[in-house]
Formats: sequence, C-alpha cells, structure tokens
Amino acid sequence: MDVDKFINDTISFIKDKVRGKGIIALSGGVDSSVCTYLSYKAISDNLYPVFIDTGLMRINEVDEIKKTFKNMNIKIIDAKNRFLSALKGVTDPEEKRKIIGALFIQIFEEVAEDIGADYLIQGTIYPDIIESHGGIKSHHNVGGMPLKYKFKEVVEPLKDLYKDEVRIIARALSLPEEICGRMPYPGPGLAVRIIGEVTEEKLDVLKRANMIVEDELKEYNPWQAFAALIGKGTGVRGDERIYGWIISIRAVESRDGMTADYLKLPWNILDTIRRRIISEIYNVSRVVYDITPKPPATIEYE
Ligand code: XMP
Repeated sequence: MDVDKFINDTISFIKDKVRGKGIIALSGGVDSSVCTYLSYKAISDNLYPVFIDTGLMRINEVDEIKKTFKNMNIKIIDAKNRFLSALKGVTDPEEKRKIIGALFIQIFEEVAEDIGADYLIQGTIYPDIIESHGGIKSHHNVGGMPLKYKFKEVVEPLKDLYKDEVRIIARALSLPEEICGRMPYPGPGLAVRIIGEVTEEKLDVLKRANMIVEDELKEYNPWQAFAALIGKGTGVRGDERIYGWIISIRAVESRDGMTADYLKLPWNILDTIRRRIISEIYNVSRVVYDITPKPPATIEYE
C-alpha cells in the first residue's frame, strides 16, 4: 500500500463527500481514531467527534478519550442509563447487537440535529463488513445498524482496509503509540463479553476482571486479551458455599480478526491472573482459560 497516497486520497475523498458539518463516531480505537484524524485534516472544525459513553466501556476509557482529542470539538455523551435500560431482560446475542446498533444511531442522529450536521463518518473496516454480511455476527456499525437513518450520507473512508493497514496509517499520521497499537475493542463493548442479560452487577465484576487480564498480559502483546463473564457456578469460600460468577480469560493472536489462535501462556501467568481475580473481586467462584481458536469459536462471546 502506498501510505502517503492513501492518506492524500482519503482526505480528498472526505472533503468531497462531507459538504458542511459532519459528526464522526469516535470510540478511541485505532480505526475510529485514524478516521477522526483524517477527517479533521479534511474538514477541520466542521468535524464533531462524538463519543458515546454506553457504560459498556472499560475502566478509564472516557478520560483517555477526552485527553487525546481535547483539541477537537469532541462531544462526550453519557448514555449509560439508556443502554442499560434498552438491554434489560435481553439475552439473545444478535438482539443485543441490534439494540446497541440502533441506539448508537439514534443518539448520533440526536447529536447531529443539535449541531446541524448532515453527515455521519464511521471508521468501519473491511472485516466488519465481511462478518456482518457473512451472517456470522452483526457488527454494531454494519449489520447492527438500522437500514433507515436521518443522515444525508454515511461516509466510511476506511472500509477497504484491514486492521494492520489501519495501524500503518496511524503510525504514518504520528498518532500516539497507545492508539496505534491498541487492541481492537468491539463497539458493543462488554455487552458481547457477558453471556445473557447485561446487568450493573455483571458489568462491575467484568470491568474489574478485565483490567486485571489486560494489565497482566500487556507484555505478551496479544491481538486481544480480555475477560468475559460466562455464567455462574458453585464454589466455596472459607466454610461457605457461594454461587459465584465464572470468568473466562480470552487471549488470542490474529492478523485480521477473521481467524485467531489462543496464546500458549505459561501456567504461572495464568495462576497470577486467577489469584488476583479471586482475591480482588467478590463473588467470583471460578476462572477458566479459553483455549478455542477461531474457528470454531469467534473471538468475542456473543
Ligand atoms: P469475532 O467475535 O467476530 O470478532 O471473532 C472479530 C473481531 O471484530 C471485533 N468485533 C467488533 N468490532 N463492532 C466492532 O467494532 C462489533 O460489533 C464487533 N464485534 C466483534 C472483535 O473484537 C474482534 O477483534
């Protein structure tokens, strides 16, 4: 790929498409960050990056975003309660994804109307489209997105790229290394790492477990490493029976997310993670390590 050419062509493409104000769906991941930087170069202060705090994010995510994009017209929307109530009682994985995709768009439309923006820019990449159209799962920004929306146009400048190409562009744009090398994080966030209904209690347990997993596995430089909450099981703490949460550790290597293999981690690191999760989080009865490649498992749980 000719990186300079791609950057220049993409800036011209965005300039040409977005005539006036546009909002960009910013998650803080490498795709939407690259898209934001390119769009800013194209339309400058007509660009409004919108970050929706779904409550399904990891710890500290919102503060990091604010810091990184403080020079732009960034809008942070607190939508935690809306997402949680929309997901109440919902257990089907595809239904969860569709609800999240629809709510994302609804909120983007509300913000755009406030600002007077006609365009939505998204950092959708090629594998998002393939997985959604292949019927594997509805990525929130493609298959999970409603077919009708109020925008004049949805602009997706990165839709032909794979993740490793996006990282090359990110480095060429001199984005901070923590963005360039950032693990992929799905738009529906922790909702697809919780089996069944999303509740505040599950989110609280999972956020803390996830921080431990990410923290302990940083040095392995995985494609993705995270915790998932996969159910409940009987355990014993002291003399007491507990019916606690089961946390699964997922750590995979991959080139593009389309296939993946689990990391062959040493036992001592798995021991450390299990010890920390059990001692730092209440009501976890069991920690397991997921040794399933993709296929047959997908990387995320739902
Ligand atoms: P799966 O679970 O399909 O995931 O093996 C492949 C890659 O895509 C990410 N992923 C998503 N990214 N919106 C996104 O932006 C989504 O709805 C979504 N679902 C999965 C996943 O984290 C992995 O890197």
